[in-house]
Formats: sequence, structure tokens, C-alpha cells
Amino acid sequence: MRTILVTGACGEIGHSLLQTFAERGNNTIIAADINQLPDEQAANVSVAVRGDISNPDFIKQLEQYNFDEVYHLAALLSTSAERNPELAHQVNVNGTMALLMMSRRIGMRTGNPVIFMFPSTIAVYGLKSLTIKNVAGKLTEDEHLKPTTMYGINKLYCEQLGAYMSDRYGQLTSESDTKTIDFRALRFPGLISATTLPSGGTSDYAPEMIHAAAQGKPYSCFVRPDTRIPFMAMPDGVKALLQLAAAPSEKLTRRTYNIGAFAPSAEEIAAKVKAAFPDADIQYNPHLRRQNIVDSWCADVDDTAARMDWGWSAEYDMQRAFDEYLIPTISGVYAG
Ligand code: SER
Repeated sequence: MRTILVTGACGEIGHSLLQTFAERGNNTIIAADINQLPDEQAANVSVAVRGDISNPDFIKQLEQYNFDEVYHLAALLSTSAERNPELAHQVNVNGTMALLMMSRRIGMRTGNPVIFMFPSTIAVYGLKSLTIKNVAGKLTEDEHLKPTTMYGINKLYCEQLGAYMSDRYGQLTSESDTKTIDFRALRFPGLISATTLPSGGTSDYAPEMIHAAAQGKPYSCFVRPDTRIPFMAMPDGVKALLQLAAAPSEKLTRRTYNIGAFAPSAEEIAAKVKAAFPDADIQYNPHLRRQNIVDSWCADVDDTAARMDWGWSAEYDMQRAFDEYLIPTISGVYAG
């Protein structure tokens, strides 16, 4: 029986993660979000608390629990963060620091390091041109780390902050040897869920295209047909989080891991959507600035480290993702 905090519980990953925790049972789940957790989700958790992670009083309220694991999912995604960079910094960076410090105090109190799971992103990459992107192909964790967005900058910094808090916090003080946090980050590709839609991301064109077609609505895609970034079906995203959280720490050679599944162009996604929904009406009207953002992200990721260290392997390639997860589930969702 573990005590687990999930921040951003109302978001897309939170939604699927809470469901998976509920199916597994046996844990005390504290769900935190700035919004009210919908009733059907509240039924899946032990306690639902509403508040802002950048508010110290809210952190104090959370700190009463002795968390074994924290899944810190709350964040502004890349498009939202470009629209409000200062708020993005406050939530994505200050909120993360506050939760890391809280976890540290809990780890000191209990004597058990808190496993701190952090969703990072392909937005940490910053490829300078499409030619460089196409030549670079699959990127390892340590290449082309020059993010062009507030979101990418926030996430790359927090990857390093978490590693620092785990390994070197206060390295010139007497507390430096105390292991209080065990930070583990996953660089997610664009995630596609059959049951929820993202808000404020720049990889949103893929899920939006599929969900629009399933509802018989036309879709105007905000990137060019040849745009390519990695994507992943949501069940694999949740699987990766739980698998990395459960991995023995001695197996881990790094604190941030890439994970890959499939890497289609927008046009290839549209072709799959049209095969399932022949009447789908998909047009392309690229939005220059959003296009520039995805063009700076990698075409695919090299996830060798995750495969070697903790046995990562996606269950859903593109075909399985569409045929066995997305299309049947989405069709059910909109059929009511
Ligand atoms: N899905 C995210 C976004 O588009 C990328 O990690 O912002």
C-alpha cells in the first residue's frame, strides 16, 4: 500500500493514470488539481484536493501526507505557455520547485526517498532548421537541447533541477548525503488518447484530427502535411510512467529517459484517419508560429537507454494504436 500524489489530475495523463491506479487498487491516491475533479474520477481516488501548486498554503496542505510517490503532471503545455510565458514559468518551474522541496521535507521526515515522476517532453529539443531535423533523425537524450519555447525551457530546466535535488542538493551542507528524492523523468512524445482531448499543446493536431473525424466534423490542420514528430498512444504513456516508477534504482543509469512508439507525418496520420472514417474532411492551414514550434522538435527519439535500463518497449505501434485502441474506443465514445 503506497501513498501517491497525482498533480494535474484533471489533465489527460492524470485521467488515464487515475483509472489505472483504480484498476490496480491497494494504494492511497491523493489527486490534486486547480480544477474540480469530475465526480466519475473522484470515485477513483482516496482524496481529491483543489488548489494551485504555486500557492505555498496549498503545498502545506499536501505536505501532511507521507507520500511514497509523486506524479507531478500539472503544467501549461507548449501553445498555452507561449500565450502566457510568465504564468508558464510560475506553474511549470516554481510549482515544480515547490513540490520538489515538499518531497524533500517528506523524505527527511519519513527516512524514505520520495519517487518523483516528472513528465518531460520532446519540446526540450530545438533543431535549427528542417534540414538539420531531417538529417538528425532519432535523437538521444543529450543532443540538440536548445528549446525554442517557454515550455521546452521550463521542462529542460526542471529535468536538471530534479536531478540536482536527487543527487547534489546542498552539496556544501551537512544535509547533502541524505537521499530524500528519487527523481525520474520521461520525455513523452505527443500523446494521443481515445477518451480525452489535450488543451494548449502543439502536438494537438493529431488527436484533434482523429476526434474531429470520429464526430463527423471537418478539421483544419495547423501544420503542413509533411510535419513529423513522435507520437504515442496514451496507454503506453501510462505504462511507461508506472514501469519507470517501479524500476529498481540501481538499474537506472540516468534520470531522464526518451521513450518512443511511432513517428508519422501529419499526412500519414490523416491517411489512417481517412481509412477509418472515409468521409473525414481534413484541410491544411498551417499556423506559421505553431508550425515553427513543431519543426524545431525532433522527427523521432532514440530510446535505447530506456530499453536497456528498464525494459521499455511500446505495445502500440501506429497500426495497433489505430486499429486496436484509437478507432474502436473513439467510435464508442462518440456513439455514446
Ligand atoms: N504535447 C506537448 C505539447 O504539444 C508536447 O510535449 O505541448
